[in-house]
Amino acid sequence: MKSYNNILAMAIVSLLLSCSDRGVENEPPIVTDAQLLSLAQAPGGWVYYRNSTDTIVKASNSAHDEPRLRTRYSAKAATQLDVNGKVRLDPNFPDSSLIVKELFTGPTITTLAIMFKLRSAPNAGNGWIWSELDANGNVKISAASRGAGCVSCHSAGLDYTRMNDAHP
Ligand code: HEC
Repeated sequence: MKSYNNILAMAIVSLLLSCSDRGVENEPPIVTDAQLLSLAQAPGGWVYYRNSTDTIVKASNSAHDEPRLRTRYSAKAATQLDVNGKVRLDPNFPDSSLIVKELFTGPTITTLAIMFKLRSAPNAGNGWIWSELDANGNVKISAASRGAGCVSCHSAGLDYTRMNDAHP
């Protein structure tokens, strides 16, 4: 898993570099749902919202079916958390920040909702790439849709993140 992470990171860097060689019209390719799933499944380095691995009851204005959830942040995304594990009041998540919301049916994770910051990606919607997959990796809402079904709700949040307001 770790190697996928590195491969994706290297691929993105080399594409950004080759892009600057060839001019702005050569954008990097879209980041796929499968790549996001690999990143989301990489072990280690995650920080959980409010520094807790407990699941919490989803907000009434949440988009998802499952009753409980847990949100984790990659090391890069976690730079925007405060000491209590909540998002800082004026966050600016750096590129390659990854946020994963795990949705639970009973004790089992049945859906992953993913936000991956990559402002230059052609499939970014408002700076983030948005994806939703089931636990087997089947795509429910594709990263290719540029967050069309996500941004309307998330624009109310802190750099488009909703945990702080929904779970203060
Ligand atoms: C109906 C409103 C709504 C829609 C639509 C929506 N979300 Fe959310 N989302 C929320 C709320 C509210 C939260 C806070 C956690 C909770 O209770 O679900 C959240 C939390 C998240 C989080 C955890 C990070 C954070 O703080 O925001 C991720 C990741 C996420 N959503 C991804 C998505 C993706 C991907 C889509 C589109 C496929 C989407 N969401 C569509 C309301 C929405």
